[in-house]
This record gives sequence, structure tokens and C-alpha cells, in this order.
Amino acid sequence: MNRKRLTRDEVASILADGAHYVLEDYALRDELQAKIRQAFLEGIEALAGAACRSEVEAHGLRELHRYFPLAKIHKLEAHLMRSLQDELYYWSYRVGADTLGLAHPFFVDHFIIFRIHYPFLLARDAGAIEPAPIVWKERMRLAYGALRDWDALKDYVGLGRGPADEKVRSVHDAFAYHGDIPAPARSHGPHMDTWYGHSYDGINLWLSIDGVNVDNTVILYPDMFGRPLEFDPVTMYIARGQEICKPLKVEIGAGDLLVFNPEMLHGTQVNISDVTRVALTTRINPGQPRFGVRASAYMEHWYRSEDVERREFSRPRRFPHDKYRGEQSVRARDRYPGNRTMRLAVEGEMAAGRPIPVCSAQALARDLKIAVDIGKHKLIVWRAAGELRAFGRLCPHLGIDLADGYHDERDIYCPGHGIAYSLTDGRSKCAAFGLREYRAFERDGTIYVERIGNEAGSKPAGDRPHQPAPEHHP
Ligand SMILES: [Fe+2]
Repeated sequence: MNRKRLTRDEVASILADGAHYVLEDYALRDELQAKIRQAFLEGIEALAGAACRSEVEAHGLRELHRYFPLAKIHKLEAHLMRSLQDELYYWSYRVGADTLGLAHPFFVDHFIIFRIHYPFLLARDAGAIEPAPIVWKERMRLAYGALRDWDALKDYVGLGRGPADEKVRSVHDAFAYHGDIPAPARSHGPHMDTWYGHSYDGINLWLSIDGVNVDNTVILYPDMFGRPLEFDPVTMYIARGQEICKPLKVEIGAGDLLVFNPEMLHGTQVNISDVTRVALTTRINPGQPRFGVRASAYMEHWYRSEDVERREFSRPRRFPHDKYRGEQSVRARDRYPGNRTMRLAVEGEMAAGRPIPVCSAQALARDLKIAVDIGKHKLIVWRAAGELRAFGRLCPHLGIDLADGYHDERDIYCPGHGIAYSLTDGRSKCAAFGLREYRAFERDGTIYVERIGNEAGSKPAGDRPHQPAPEHHP
């Protein structure tokens, strides 16, 4: 869309119906892009030298992984925040006022994230990452925002145990989901932002800076909007066993802005492209922030639009989640009907030369998939162009079970990070990620599966699969 301003109805439908828009034009577009580029180049030069800067200047941020050491990425993000933070608040305000047409008072989130994703295989094996420095100016601002609230204040000046309820916080465990993958290689699983302690009724601004493509973009799940979903408090992502709709891998050109309601289930396509994806996200609340879900931590700090208009950034306002309560206000829909999946558990031990009967051939309709557990083996069985096919169903990226994923006549989509596996050969676009193949055949009206004897056939295609955290092992 190349209009500079959304209509009132369009904004209302983001909030109520989960509409989303990719804006090629929006408030301060060119000024902001120039400032971001400048801040990147300065940070790159300060952290990795002038030669690195000129390479990135010549080839673009999408080639960052070729020149800038991933070990320093958190330091680069800290540099970007220090130099751009106030500009980004002001820009968010102007998008709210000019592009979304919001009237005072509305609220600009204090929480801004740069999302720099190197190609996954490179990021996975990058080794130790240097920690980001504490930005004291930022700590002091937050403390100032909490001045009348001693419990919150002591967290910022180092006397408290952290800005969240420690008992609840201890439940969240990123390792349970991401295993030993270093932080810059992690991608969000499907979630709604309120599961992360964000407020209801927000509008996310997802700004594509460079290198965003369908193999590393943000994934929306539009058909899940307004439907009841359970989340896992350990991972903060969708709880397993709930089937989800086809992923929409949003195409967003460099410099374009995606606006969407973060109460829509969304996640990140693991970067299986060969470029670095550079994006940033922030958020606007048209009304006073309200919280509902019991989360591990809460995003309670916001700037009022009137303050930001005056470029007054020293006083973010705190909305304690226990006082500013509310209900979700999206249009509610029925539970998602599922993806034509039959789930079975069969006794038996898989071995080459020992076929295991799964079900009657009649039961496997053309567009159905069967998720069958045979001992510790988790398989998926379907007919691809009439031919029976069977594969291991744990995604080699993080060991996520494909049973919950959407499938069409060509591919099955990992319900974690969007990788599409061919129903015919179990391969994906990325040579490192393929599904382990099993032999499947029909005899006397029964479907059988069998382990393929030779090692080459029974291994996932390509590179070593990642070792996920223990709970994901088959
Ligand atoms: Fe999110």
C-alpha cells in the first residue's frame, strides 16, 4: 500500500479483526532510514574498524554477516539503541499521529528491539557472543518513571531482584525451547505479545530495514486471530498439540513498514536465506495500556504522545500490570478446526526389515496426514500425488513436532519457524534441513511403515541436525 495514511476503519480493523498492512510510505520514512543507516555504519566502525564499515557501506546491511563479527552483535544493538532510541520514539509517535491518525493521548512503547538475524547455520555455530553493556541512561529513565513506586524503583537501582515477580519469572526458560543455540540465532516461535506481558490493544510497527525476504521474515497466522489458544509458560510460545493455520510469510521490501495487531499469532521464519535480516520493532497503544495474562515480566513503561510530541523522553510512564487490568477486546472466534490430522499410537519396534502396520489404507484419505507414534519414533504418513510417503516428523531445526503444522498438497509447514518440507521428498529449501525418510507401503488393505536400512536413506538430508533441549528428544 502506498498511501501515507490509513483510514479510521482500517485502523479499527487492525484492532478488532487482525487486519495488517505493509506500508511503502509512512511518516518520516526517508529521514528515519538515513538515520538508521548512519547509526549502523558508525557502530560498525567503532566496533569492527573502518575497513569493515566500508565493506558494509558498499554491499549493504544484508551482507553484514560477511564482514561484521556476530560476537559483537549485542554491542552493535546497544550502540544503535543509544544513538537512535529517542529518534525512534519520536518516529513511532509520528506514525501514530500522521499514518494511523491517532489523537492524543496515545502511548508509545518504551520497548524497542533491533532484530538482526544472520543466516541461521552461520549464527548457530558462531561461538561466544560478547555481552551488551548496561545503558545507564536508560536505567535512570526507567527509575525516574517509577519514582513514586519504591518496589519498582529498587529494581532499577540494583536493590531489587528484578523488575518482575521472581517466582513467575523463574518459570520461563528459553533453553527449554532453543536448546544450546546462541541468542542471536534464536527465532521466535508462534506467540501473541500478551503472553510476553505486553498490553492488550496494541499496534506493532515492524520495520524492514534490509535483507527481509520470505525465508527470514515475520510470520503471521491470520486464521488464528481471535481464536482461543493456550500458551506454554515455560517457552512463552504456543503450547504443543494445537494445530495452527497456514503461515503467512509477509513480504516486506527494504524500508517498508508492517503494521499488525500482536494479538494475532505470529513468529519468525528461521533465516534459511543467505542474507542478514535487519528489522526493528516497536509498538503503539491507541488507548491506555491494560494487562491481563499472567506473564513472566511485563512491558509497563510507555511514553505519552503529548510528551513525545515535545521530545520529552526523560519520563517514561509506568503502568503497573496489577493496577492496569483489562480484557482482550478482539472479535472472538471459535477454536481453529485443525489441519486434517489423524493421530495414532502403535505398539512395535521400528527396525529395518520389520514393517509395522499403521492403519487401514481406507482411513488415509488423500488430503489427510497421519501422525503416528511407534515406540520412540514419531512419524508422519501421507499420500503425495497418490504415492504413500513416511517421514520422521521432528523438525531438524529445533525438534518441533510437525503434527501441529499446516499442510497443503505440496508441503507441510513446521509450526515452529515456518520451514516448508516437501510432501514428496521431505526436503526444504535449505540443504541442512530435511526430514528422515521411512519406507511406507500398502499390503492387503493395510498401511505399513518400515525403517530404511541403509544409513544414507535414514538420515535427515544434509548437515548435522541441531541438538535440541532434552524435552524435544524423540
Ligand atoms: Fe511478538
